[in-house]
Amino acid sequence: MQKPNLQQAKKRSNKKVPVINDFVIDDKLLALGLHKKYFIKTYGCQMNEHDSEKIAAMLEKMQFQVASNMEEADVIILNSCSIRENAHNKVFGMIGQLKQLKEKKEDLILVLCGCMPQEEIVVNKILTKYEWLDIVFGTHNIINFPNLLAKCIDERKPQIEVFSKEGEIYESLPVKREYPHKAWVNIMFGCDKFCAYCIVPYTRGKQRSRTRQYILKEIKKLIAGGCWEVTLLGQNVNAYGKDLSENYYFADLLNDIGKLDIARVRFMTNHPWDLNDDIIKAMQQNDNIMPHIHLPLQSGSDRILQKMNRNYTKDEYIKLYFKLKEAIPNICISTDIIVGFPGEEAKDFSETLAVVNKCQFDYAFTFIFSKREGTPAAAMADKTLREEKEARLQKLNKYISAYTLNSNMQFKNTTVRVLVDGFSAKNKAVLTGYSENMKRVNFYGDEQLIGQIVPVKITEVKTWSLFGEIVSTKKG
Ligand code: SAH
Ligand code: SF4
Ligand code: F3S
Repeated sequence: MQKPNLQQAKKRSNKKVPVINDFVIDDKLLALGLHKKYFIKTYGCQMNEHDSEKIAAMLEKMQFQVASNMEEADVIILNSCSIRENAHNKVFGMIGQLKQLKEKKEDLILVLCGCMPQEEIVVNKILTKYEWLDIVFGTHNIINFPNLLAKCIDERKPQIEVFSKEGEIYESLPVKREYPHKAWVNIMFGCDKFCAYCIVPYTRGKQRSRTRQYILKEIKKLIAGGCWEVTLLGQNVNAYGKDLSENYYFADLLNDIGKLDIARVRFMTNHPWDLNDDIIKAMQQNDNIMPHIHLPLQSGSDRILQKMNRNYTKDEYIKLYFKLKEAIPNICISTDIIVGFPGEEAKDFSETLAVVNKCQFDYAFTFIFSKREGTPAAAMADKTLREEKEARLQKLNKYISAYTLNSNMQFKNTTVRVLVDGFSAKNKAVLTGYSENMKRVNFYGDEQLIGQIVPVKITEVKTWSLFGEIVSTKKG
């Protein structure tokens, strides 16, 4: 058993992280999943979604097949998120529910992975309260999963293995992509920003950028396979390259990817800290870089921003915001905002509202501060009552949804280009996809449009989606 250690996870060194390019699953394990099925439930961010695609591919290499529900599965994997208390609660709730399934099906293997196992408190809780879990591994040792699975089946014993130090960068992991037409591409792992509230630098380790050769090779392969859109993933993509020995940064990468024959390039997410003019220029100069950026504000109060360790003032944020709007006039800018950070007073909150009113974001994700054990903010005095925080969130959300609707209104009666993902979950006759500006667009259409870029005229505007009619079915 190897348990996580937060003290160790906090450490940063300049030591180069080795790149390993020969990941293979042991021959002995290649039939492990014969006649067996797996089910993966993913919580959290795109990073986790993409990790699940890697885990799925490993399982399929061992001949496991995907199950359509948990009841039918022989292996159930919960890929978990630590970002807020409610993410934890959801996963613990699910582990609780799975106990019954495990009692009915003795050979069922329950796996917990992702960010939660990286936390000491989580692993301690599992050992005392959720002992029916079979395998627990973290974000740094996904590659050990096939071995842990084999060992668990072989020894019929739980396997807990969590490393608190980032491992190698694995370049040749298999991936089972959810869509053929769009793909996630990791450009970096980890985060060194240490925002005072955030657990990610502890669960994902230090920043490690992939080298351009591997990134470009992966994207070229995707293009050859018919992919139209890549989303470059990193906790703070603007800092890409700062840990590499060559002078090659995010703007350089954008320019190189922009030159490839791919219709759409997206990236997320962007800390304002490292967003420089070269990046803005690259967005301006490459038509296939989509006019959307997710630029978390977190707070509009300088006092709180400083306590959060965000390294910018509200004026700097506003300046950057309008610089982007000016440089790329059709850009949509979305954001994240936290209310109720320790010490946030009514005055600070009004300053956040003032920035929201000034910027009028195209959309935003809003959260109540959640105390994460081991982060600096967890030790800060927090006297504001929960009801007050809820009231702030509600008030903020009212503004945010008004501005979101407002932003959507600009598309009424215009034609937008939509990359069609598939049928809407709510209505099987309606196709759904995203516009260049990252607006969800629904419209009636045929199955053969899935995976294509099609022009859609917007006829109806709602807060969370646009509705339209297809203009023509010419390929994009
Ligand atoms: N790397 C990304 C953030 C990933 S987490 C970035 O910096 O943009 C996504 C969002 O969750 C953050 O932007 C923040 O708004 C929110 N968040 C993170 N930790 C939180 C916490 N402890 N409580 C409430 N919200 C939090
Ligand atoms: Fe968390 Fe800040 Fe890193 Fe984003 S930049 S992952 S909010 S520490
Ligand atoms: Fe959650 Fe880990 Fe992502 S904490 S938001 S799954 S990096």
